Amino acid sequence: MTGRIDISAWRGGSLRLRFLLAIVLWVAIGIAGIWFSATRVFTKHIELQYHDELYGHVRELTGLVQVSSDGHLSLSRPLSDPRYLEPMSGFYWQVSVYHGDRLHSASMVHGQLDEDIAHTPEVRHIVENGPSGTAIVYGLTGQTPDGRTIHYVIATDKRYLDEAIAGFTQELTLWLLGLAAMLVGTGLIAIMLVLRPLDRLGASVAALRTGNREPLSGPFPSEIMPLVHDLNAYAADNQAMIERSRVQAGNLAHSLRTPLAVIIDEAEHLAAGQTTRETGLTLLGQSEVMVQQIEYHLARTRSAATARTSIKASLLPDILAPVLNAMRKLHPGKSFELIDRGGVVEAVAVDPVDLSELLSILLDNAGKWSVSRVEIAITAREGTCRITITDDGPGMSPDQIEAAFDIGVRHDLSQPGTGLGLAIARDIAAAYGISLVLTSAEGKGLEADLLLPSA
Ligand SMILES: Nc1ncnc2c1ncn2[C@@H]1O[C@H](COP(=O)(O)OP(=O)(O)O)[C@@H](O)[C@H]1O
Ligand SMILES: [Mg+2]
Repeated sequence: MTGRIDISAWRGGSLRLRFLLAIVLWVAIGIAGIWFSATRVFTKHIELQYHDELYGHVRELTGLVQVSSDGHLSLSRPLSDPRYLEPMSGFYWQVSVYHGDRLHSASMVHGQLDEDIAHTPEVRHIVENGPSGTAIVYGLTGQTPDGRTIHYVIATDKRYLDEAIAGFTQELTLWLLGLAAMLVGTGLIAIMLVLRPLDRLGASVAALRTGNREPLSGPFPSEIMPLVHDLNAYAADNQAMIERSRVQAGNLAHSLRTPLAVIIDEAEHLAAGQTTRETGLTLLGQSEVMVQQIEYHLARTRSAATARTSIKASLLPDILAPVLNAMRKLHPGKSFELIDRGGVVEAVAVDPVDLSELLSILLDNAGKWSVSRVEIAITAREGTCRITITDDGPGMSPDQIEAAFDIGVRHDLSQPGTGLGLAIARDIAAAYGISLVLTSAEGKGLEADLLLPSA
């Protein structure tokens, strides 16, 4: 522990939190400053006023006391403040002559005041124990005609002063707490208003990432506008680059097809010859791998998801109808049955071209390996749409299922194919966050389960 605040932890974090902490700190310092100075000023002011009042009482007392020629004391009338008459009210006076008379207020039912406090002709005050608690005691001295000292003492309980100060402090504290809550509240509203454009920007960028190619639009504050322009320019550049690479990859794959066809043709000649048979077969095997790779990558360049261009939502019925028609033609003698398991089938967040391809791959496999029947069940639930394609063919073992997703893997060569279907299906599913699970119950054919996000 060094006791130093680690500023690096603040580099990340949330802007809202930073603003909030700044506001809370600012309000706390401000309010504490006001509280401190206001209580100080009030205390000073009320103390002065209190002392002024009691000075007046002392002066009044000295004016009212009459001393006879033989040193006896009397009061011409009671003090004007009635609290000196009320028993133990906290307001007391006492006048005494050295070795002589002693008078005191009616309020002082018992006890007496320390006459030594009055020791100069000037009024002096100290805080001392009084008849009913801590008191502020005032005193001054005078002279009898025969030269003896008179002690005038007045005492008032300090609690009157303390109560006034405590009452003010309590009220002030409540008011200031209310003010602090209001300031923090308006601060929170300000934070929300200031950061709202950033939230909107975040949502627009997220939409851009999920395939909405529209540039970021809408009015943004002038401070954020340069960032929006830069992001739009960056997205456009990126898009153009992807588009170019896609075309180039497609061109490359196409340009390889013809020379490859010639090589395969020559390899077949070699394979037919007695002495060159081995070489021919090796060349044919390798060429087949090359054909598979080319077809796979061509399929990938067709996908909107890999290119992230103009991804639109698909309406499931619109996509399924033509795919099923094509499947029925491709696999005559097999029935393709659509079962609606309830829920409104809404649009799904997958590009129509990719969704058609994905469904075609799975339905074509089901058609190829089924005995007579393929079932397509659709269940819509909030936020997702489940499509389950089940056939009544031989199915696959768990190991076969795992391997079937690799490029070029084919377990059953009795049916035509390239071994690319499931590899492409896996890529499309991954690009859209679609869950694609194949399961196979013993003797019950294969079940392909798709979980699509709704648009
Ligand atoms: N519905 C199915 N029933 C049984 N086997 C299947 C099924 N679907 C796929 N397979 C197996 O998985 C392999 C890979 O499938 P796929 O990648 O689509 O290639 P292709 O269809 O070109 O053979 C197939 O060759 C087949 O052995
Ligand atoms: Mg296939």
